Amino acid sequence: MRTPIEANKLSIGYHDHLLFEDLNLSIPRGEISVFVGSNGCGKSTLLRSMARLLKPADGSVLLEGKDITRLSSREVAKKLGILPQSPISPEGLTVQDLVKQGRYPHQSWLKRWTEEDTEKVEEAMKATRVFELRDKPVDELSGGQRQRAWIAMTLAQDTEIILLDEPTTYLDMTHQIEILDLLFELNEKQNRTIIMVLHDINLASRYGHNIIAIKDGAVFNQGTPESIINCELVRSVFGMECQVATDPIFGTPHCIPYGKGRCILPTMNEAKKSV
Ligand SMILES: Nc1ncnc2c1ncn2[C@@H]1O[C@H](COP(=O)(O)OP(=O)(O)O)[C@@H](O)[C@H]1O
Ligand SMILES: [Mg+2]
Repeated sequence: MRTPIEANKLSIGYHDHLLFEDLNLSIPRGEISVFVGSNGCGKSTLLRSMARLLKPADGSVLLEGKDITRLSSREVAKKLGILPQSPISPEGLTVQDLVKQGRYPHQSWLKRWTEEDTEKVEEAMKATRVFELRDKPVDELSGGQRQRAWIAMTLAQDTEIILLDEPTTYLDMTHQIEILDLLFELNEKQNRTIIMVLHDINLASRYGHNIIAIKDGAVFNQGTPESIINCELVRSVFGMECQVATDPIFGTPHCIPYGKGRCILPTMNEAKKSV
Protein backbone atom coordinates (compact mmCIF):
# COMPACT_ATOMS: atom_id res chain seq x y z
CA MET A 1 0.00 0.00 0.00
CA ARG A 2 1.27 3.47 -0.87
CA THR A 3 2.51 5.91 1.75
CA PRO A 4 -0.36 8.43 2.20
CA ILE A 5 1.86 11.51 2.25
CA GLU A 6 5.51 11.94 1.47
CA ALA A 7 7.82 14.91 1.16
CA ASN A 8 10.30 14.29 -1.58
CA LYS A 9 13.37 16.59 -1.59
CA LEU A 10 10.97 19.29 -0.51
CA SER A 11 12.12 22.90 -0.25
CA ILE A 12 9.58 25.25 1.20
CA GLY A 13 9.44 28.71 2.72
CA TYR A 14 8.23 32.25 2.21
CA HIS A 15 9.40 34.72 -0.43
CA ASP A 16 13.09 33.96 -0.88
CA HIS A 17 13.59 32.54 2.61
CA LEU A 18 13.51 28.74 2.69
CA LEU A 19 12.56 27.07 5.97
CA PHE A 20 13.14 23.53 4.74
CA GLU A 21 15.55 22.43 2.04
CA ASP A 22 15.72 19.00 0.46
CA LEU A 23 13.46 17.49 3.10
CA ASN A 24 12.50 13.84 2.83
CA LEU A 25 9.72 12.64 5.07
CA SER A 26 7.32 9.75 5.00
CA ILE A 27 4.06 9.58 6.95
CA PRO A 28 2.93 6.07 7.90
CA ARG A 29 -0.60 4.99 6.96
CA GLY A 30 -3.14 4.30 9.67
CA GLU A 31 -1.11 5.94 12.42
CA ILE A 32 -1.24 9.15 14.42
CA SER A 33 1.81 11.23 13.54
CA VAL A 34 2.60 14.31 15.60
CA PHE A 35 4.90 17.19 14.69
CA VAL A 36 6.65 18.72 17.67
CA GLY A 37 9.20 21.51 17.82
CA SER A 38 9.75 24.99 19.22
CA ASN A 39 7.66 28.01 18.20
CA GLY A 40 8.42 29.20 14.70
CA CYS A 41 10.38 26.09 13.64
CA GLY A 42 8.05 25.54 10.69
CA LYS A 43 5.52 22.94 11.84
CA SER A 44 2.52 24.82 10.42
CA THR A 45 4.41 25.53 7.21
CA LEU A 46 5.14 21.85 6.75
CA LEU A 47 1.57 20.79 7.55
CA ARG A 48 0.15 23.35 5.15
CA SER A 49 2.48 22.24 2.38
CA MET A 50 1.18 18.69 2.91
CA ALA A 51 -2.34 19.94 2.20
CA ARG A 52 -1.29 21.88 -0.90
CA LEU A 53 -1.93 25.22 0.80
CA LEU A 54 1.66 26.22 0.11
CA LYS A 55 3.55 25.67 -3.11
CA PRO A 56 7.00 24.07 -2.84
CA ALA A 57 9.97 26.11 -4.03
CA ASP A 58 11.49 22.81 -5.09
CA GLY A 59 10.85 19.10 -4.74
CA SER A 60 7.36 17.78 -4.12
CA VAL A 61 4.70 16.51 -1.77
CA LEU A 62 3.27 13.19 -2.87
CA LEU A 63 -0.29 12.29 -1.98
CA GLU A 64 -0.59 8.54 -2.42
CA GLY A 65 2.32 8.67 -4.80
CA LYS A 66 1.02 11.56 -6.91
CA ASP A 67 2.46 15.06 -6.98
CA ILE A 68 -0.11 17.03 -4.97
CA THR A 69 0.27 20.17 -7.11
CA ARG A 70 -1.00 18.17 -10.12
CA LEU A 71 -4.24 17.17 -8.41
CA SER A 72 -7.42 19.26 -8.45
CA SER A 73 -8.70 20.87 -5.24
CA ARG A 74 -11.58 18.42 -5.20
CA GLU A 75 -9.29 15.40 -5.58
CA VAL A 76 -7.15 16.63 -2.70
CA ALA A 77 -10.19 17.49 -0.54
CA LYS A 78 -11.64 14.01 -1.00
CA LYS A 79 -8.46 12.44 0.33
CA LEU A 80 -7.46 14.85 3.07
CA GLY A 81 -9.03 17.41 5.35
CA ILE A 82 -7.05 20.08 7.17
CA LEU A 83 -7.79 22.17 10.20
CA PRO A 84 -5.38 25.13 9.92
CA GLN A 85 -4.03 27.08 12.89
CA SER A 86 -6.37 30.00 13.79
CA PRO A 87 -8.91 29.60 10.97
CA ILE A 88 -11.26 32.52 10.27
CA SER A 89 -14.91 32.10 9.29
CA PRO A 90 -17.09 34.68 7.51
CA GLU A 91 -19.04 36.96 9.86
CA GLY A 92 -22.43 35.59 10.87
CA LEU A 93 -21.85 32.07 9.51
CA THR A 94 -23.60 29.54 11.76
CA VAL A 95 -21.94 26.45 13.16
CA GLN A 96 -24.14 24.21 11.02
CA ASP A 97 -23.31 26.12 7.84
CA LEU A 98 -19.60 25.96 8.65
CA VAL A 99 -19.74 22.21 9.23
CA LYS A 100 -21.76 21.75 6.02
CA GLN A 101 -18.85 23.25 4.07
CA GLY A 102 -16.91 20.09 4.94
CA ARG A 103 -19.25 18.25 2.55
CA TYR A 104 -18.43 20.49 -0.42
CA PRO A 105 -15.91 18.06 -2.01
CA HIS A 106 -18.61 15.37 -2.05
CA GLN A 107 -21.00 17.51 -4.08
CA SER A 108 -21.17 17.99 -7.81
CA TRP A 109 -23.81 19.04 -10.34
CA LEU A 110 -24.69 15.36 -10.59
CA LYS A 111 -24.69 14.69 -6.89
CA ARG A 112 -26.55 17.29 -4.86
CA TRP A 113 -26.99 17.38 -1.09
CA THR A 114 -28.16 13.97 0.15
CA GLU A 115 -29.37 12.33 3.34
CA GLU A 116 -25.83 11.00 3.82
CA ASP A 117 -24.46 14.56 3.84
CA THR A 118 -26.98 15.57 6.51
CA GLU A 119 -26.01 12.52 8.58
CA LYS A 120 -22.27 13.20 8.34
CA VAL A 121 -22.80 16.83 9.38
CA GLU A 122 -24.91 15.82 12.38
CA GLU A 123 -22.49 13.07 13.35
CA ALA A 124 -19.55 15.48 13.26
CA MET A 125 -21.41 18.11 15.31
CA LYS A 126 -22.44 15.53 17.92
CA ALA A 127 -18.95 14.03 18.20
CA THR A 128 -17.44 17.44 18.86
CA ARG A 129 -20.36 18.54 21.08
CA VAL A 130 -21.41 21.55 19.03
CA PHE A 131 -24.77 20.12 17.98
CA GLU A 132 -26.60 22.27 20.55
CA LEU A 133 -24.77 25.32 19.19
CA ARG A 134 -25.60 24.63 15.54
CA ASP A 135 -27.70 27.76 14.93
CA LYS A 136 -25.25 30.14 16.59
CA PRO A 137 -22.88 32.31 14.55
CA VAL A 138 -19.34 30.96 14.82
CA ASP A 139 -17.94 34.42 15.58
CA GLU A 140 -20.09 34.63 18.71
CA LEU A 141 -18.70 31.45 20.25
CA SER A 142 -15.96 31.12 22.85
CA GLY A 143 -12.49 30.16 21.58
CA GLY A 144 -12.96 26.54 22.61
CA GLN A 145 -16.44 26.21 21.10
CA ARG A 146 -15.19 27.77 17.89
CA GLN A 147 -12.28 25.35 17.74
CA ARG A 148 -14.67 22.43 18.15
CA ALA A 149 -16.90 23.77 15.35
CA TRP A 150 -13.89 23.85 13.02
CA ILE A 151 -12.90 20.34 14.03
CA ALA A 152 -16.48 19.29 13.24
CA MET A 153 -16.12 20.75 9.75
CA THR A 154 -12.90 18.80 9.21
CA LEU A 155 -14.58 15.58 10.42
CA ALA A 156 -17.64 16.14 8.22
CA GLN A 157 -15.32 16.07 5.22
CA ASP A 158 -14.92 12.38 6.08
CA THR A 159 -11.45 11.87 4.62
CA GLU A 160 -9.03 9.04 5.20
CA ILE A 161 -6.27 11.51 6.04
CA ILE A 162 -6.88 14.25 8.61
CA LEU A 163 -4.41 17.07 9.27
CA LEU A 164 -4.83 19.31 12.29
CA ASP A 165 -2.70 22.22 13.40
CA GLU A 166 -2.77 22.50 17.19
CA PRO A 167 -6.37 21.24 17.51
CA THR A 168 -6.29 21.63 21.30
CA THR A 169 -5.64 25.40 21.22
CA TYR A 170 -8.17 27.32 23.36
CA LEU A 171 -9.59 24.10 24.80
CA ASP A 172 -9.73 23.43 28.54
CA MET A 173 -8.23 20.19 29.81
CA THR A 174 -11.48 18.23 29.54
CA HIS A 175 -12.10 19.30 25.95
CA GLN A 176 -8.45 18.74 24.99
CA ILE A 177 -8.69 15.13 26.09
CA GLU A 178 -12.13 14.76 24.52
CA ILE A 179 -10.91 15.92 21.10
CA LEU A 180 -7.73 13.85 21.24
CA ASP A 181 -9.75 10.80 22.36
CA LEU A 182 -12.06 11.35 19.42
CA LEU A 183 -9.13 11.51 16.98
CA PHE A 184 -7.64 8.42 18.63
CA GLU A 185 -10.93 6.58 18.14
CA LEU A 186 -11.16 7.65 14.48
CA ASN A 187 -7.71 6.22 14.04
CA GLU A 188 -8.34 2.99 15.94
CA LYS A 189 -11.80 2.13 14.68
CA GLN A 190 -11.69 3.56 11.18
CA ASN A 191 -7.99 3.39 10.48
CA ARG A 192 -7.73 7.06 9.55
CA THR A 193 -4.29 8.53 9.14
CA ILE A 194 -3.96 11.50 11.46
CA ILE A 195 -1.21 14.07 11.19
CA MET A 196 -1.20 16.88 13.69
CA VAL A 197 0.86 19.55 15.35
CA LEU A 198 0.69 19.54 19.13
CA HIS A 199 2.62 21.96 21.31
CA ASP A 200 2.31 19.72 24.37
CA ILE A 201 4.95 17.01 24.11
CA ASN A 202 3.23 14.95 26.83
CA LEU A 203 -0.04 14.80 24.92
CA ALA A 204 1.97 14.07 21.76
CA SER A 205 3.61 11.20 23.61
CA ARG A 206 0.33 9.83 24.90
CA TYR A 207 -1.61 9.96 21.63
CA GLY A 208 1.02 9.74 18.88
CA HIS A 209 2.33 6.50 17.40
CA ASN A 210 4.91 8.43 15.44
CA ILE A 211 6.60 11.62 16.66
CA ILE A 212 8.35 13.89 14.19
CA ALA A 213 10.60 16.34 15.98
CA ILE A 214 11.55 19.35 13.88
CA LYS A 215 14.61 21.52 14.38
CA ASP A 216 16.58 23.92 12.15
CA GLY A 217 14.71 23.10 8.95
CA ALA A 218 15.13 19.36 9.32
CA VAL A 219 13.66 16.31 11.00
CA PHE A 220 15.72 16.03 14.18
CA ASN A 221 14.30 12.58 14.91
CA GLN A 222 11.26 10.50 14.06
CA GLY A 223 9.90 7.39 15.77
CA THR A 224 7.71 6.10 18.56
CA PRO A 225 7.57 8.32 21.66
CA GLU A 226 9.28 5.54 23.65
CA SER A 227 12.19 5.40 21.26
CA ILE A 228 12.86 9.11 20.76
CA ILE A 229 11.57 11.24 23.67
CA ASN A 230 14.35 11.75 26.18
CA CYS A 231 16.14 14.65 27.93
CA GLU A 232 18.57 15.11 25.03
CA LEU A 233 15.77 15.49 22.50
CA VAL A 234 13.92 17.99 24.69
CA ARG A 235 17.15 19.94 25.28
CA SER A 236 18.03 20.03 21.57
CA VAL A 237 14.57 20.66 20.17
CA PHE A 238 13.03 22.88 22.84
CA GLY A 239 16.17 24.19 24.60
CA MET A 240 14.78 23.06 27.93
CA GLU A 241 16.14 20.98 30.78
CA CYS A 242 13.78 18.31 32.04
CA GLN A 243 13.41 14.89 33.48
CA VAL A 244 11.59 12.28 31.46
CA ALA A 245 9.49 10.06 33.68
CA THR A 246 7.01 7.36 32.82
CA ASP A 247 3.38 8.43 32.73
CA PRO A 248 1.87 6.56 35.71
CA ILE A 249 -1.35 5.74 33.84
CA PHE A 250 -0.25 5.14 30.25
CA GLY A 251 3.40 4.21 30.59
CA THR A 252 4.36 6.69 27.88
CA PRO A 253 7.31 9.12 28.29
CA HIS A 254 6.28 12.13 30.34
CA CYS A 255 8.41 15.23 30.33
CA ILE A 256 8.74 17.18 33.60
CA PRO A 257 10.50 20.52 33.09
CA TYR A 258 12.99 21.90 35.58
CA GLY A 259 12.91 25.66 36.01
CA LYS A 260 11.35 27.59 38.82
CA GLY A 261 8.31 26.70 40.84
CA ARG A 262 7.20 25.65 44.27
CA CYS A 263 9.02 22.50 45.14
CA ILE A 264 8.03 20.49 48.20
CA LEU A 265 10.45 17.60 47.72
CA PRO A 266 13.84 18.33 49.28
CA THR A 267 15.46 15.68 47.05
CA MET A 268 14.01 17.41 44.00
CA ASN A 269 15.52 20.71 45.07
CA GLU A 270 18.90 18.99 45.08
CA ALA A 271 18.27 17.46 41.67
CA LYS A 272 17.30 20.87 40.27
CA LYS A 273 20.48 22.46 41.63
CA SER A 274 22.62 19.91 39.87
CA VAL A 275 21.21 20.77 36.43
N1 LIG B 1 2.83 33.81 5.60
C1 LIG B 1 4.10 33.96 6.04
N2 LIG B 1 4.94 34.81 5.42
C2 LIG B 1 6.23 34.94 5.83
N3 LIG B 1 6.78 34.24 6.84
C3 LIG B 1 5.99 33.37 7.49
C4 LIG B 1 4.61 33.17 7.12
N4 LIG B 1 4.08 32.24 7.94
C5 LIG B 1 5.06 31.86 8.79
N5 LIG B 1 6.22 32.55 8.52
C6 LIG B 1 7.50 32.39 9.23
O1 LIG B 1 7.97 31.07 9.04
C7 LIG B 1 8.52 30.55 10.23
C8 LIG B 1 7.80 29.25 10.61
O2 LIG B 1 6.45 29.53 10.92
P1 LIG B 1 5.42 28.41 11.30
O3 LIG B 1 5.46 27.35 10.26
O4 LIG B 1 4.12 29.07 11.55
O5 LIG B 1 6.06 27.83 12.66
P2 LIG B 1 5.43 26.92 13.81
O6 LIG B 1 4.10 26.43 13.34
O7 LIG B 1 6.43 25.82 14.02
O8 LIG B 1 5.33 27.78 15.04
C9 LIG B 1 8.40 31.63 11.27
O9 LIG B 1 9.62 32.32 11.37
C10 LIG B 1 7.32 32.54 10.72
O10 LIG B 1 7.50 33.87 11.13
MG1 LIG C 1 2.18 26.72 14.05
